[in-house]
Amino acid sequence: RTLAAEKGILFGSALSAGTMEPAYLDILKAECGVIVPENEFKVYVIATQPDRYNFAPGDTIAGFARDNGMKLRGHTLLWNKVEFMPKWLLNIDFGANPAREAERYLRDYIKRVCTHYGDQVFSWDVVNETIDPQTGDIRDTPFTRALGFDCIRIAFEAAREYAPKAQLVYNDYMSWERGNETHRKGVLKLLETLRAKNVPIDGFGIQSHIGNDGHIKEAQHEQWRAFIDAAVGMDYKLLITEFDVNDKDLPTDTAVRDAGVAAAAKDYLDLMFSYKQLDQFLCWGMSDNHSWLQGWTPRADKTPQRPTPYDAQYRPKPLREAIAAALKAAPKR
Ligand code: XIL
Repeated sequence: RTLAAEKGILFGSALSAGTMEPAYLDILKAECGVIVPENEFKVYVIATQPDRYNFAPGDTIAGFARDNGMKLRGHTLLWNKVEFMPKWLLNIDFGANPAREAERYLRDYIKRVCTHYGDQVFSWDVVNETIDPQTGDIRDTPFTRALGFDCIRIAFEAAREYAPKAQLVYNDYMSWERGNETHRKGVLKLLETLRAKNVPIDGFGIQSHIGNDGHIKEAQHEQWRAFIDAAVGMDYKLLITEFDVNDKDLPTDTAVRDAGVAAAAKDYLDLMFSYKQLDQFLCWGMSDNHSWLQGWTPRADKTPQRPTPYDAQYRPKPLREAIAAALKAAPKR
């Protein structure tokens, strides 16, 4: 947090309500200036059933941030991906006038969530992952079926209305490794369309789950620079919203692996911090035992992934040093 602040960057992490043990929270208190709930602001937690809103888990995270003088990011108002919608929402019947009813529902949901957290959330991931990596097009969901692209516009407009002071962000995971070309192209097209249609949006959240399920050595520096240049050229602020390093294709040996993770991070962060439009940098968890990658993309050798700055015993790893070095080398913004 201190090193980042010296360069005009806000540093922080995701936190999940299920992992709030004291030793872990001590790390967050010592290192973070901003917290983002890992799952607790998602529709599948807030609205497990229609017209019932459960803010208790989110309130726990928001309370932790407030009690410790940390800022709070919001993630996310419309995760426009069927895999992460509750069943009732997947099967929702928008009735005889689906466009009107879908808009009503979406605006009402965003209103409820934004007004519940008010000005505490200074930056919202309004729309998350709406681009299909295979096609580069907007994903097929109950909202796009009823509204087409308009569901994206409506989400941002509702967020502006009900969170008027918040930074509004589009967030996605297209990464810098080979294999993400179509995804990047689709995201750029979306960013262009949002500008062309004057949709209220301030920032572009680059999740930055680097290493990308076993492609850690396939970074495309030139293509990636061109991609970021294009976003910056459209006057988007940049955020690293969910940084971690997938070590799936690194060897079992811990020291070798940690060095590989640290080197990949330094390479990536040096490039990213060279953009002065980037002023937020959040890790997706701060210790390996709490990383989503353990369950999500387990290693073939069955040893735990080592994607975050601290190990499972809460000892700092070479990745922490790499992050510090990249921050020290970063130009001021
Ligand atoms: C992940 C969480 O870390 C997991 O706990 C959950 O089971 C699924 O979601 N991109 C995002 C995040 O935008 O919301 C995802 O978080 C990770 C990928």
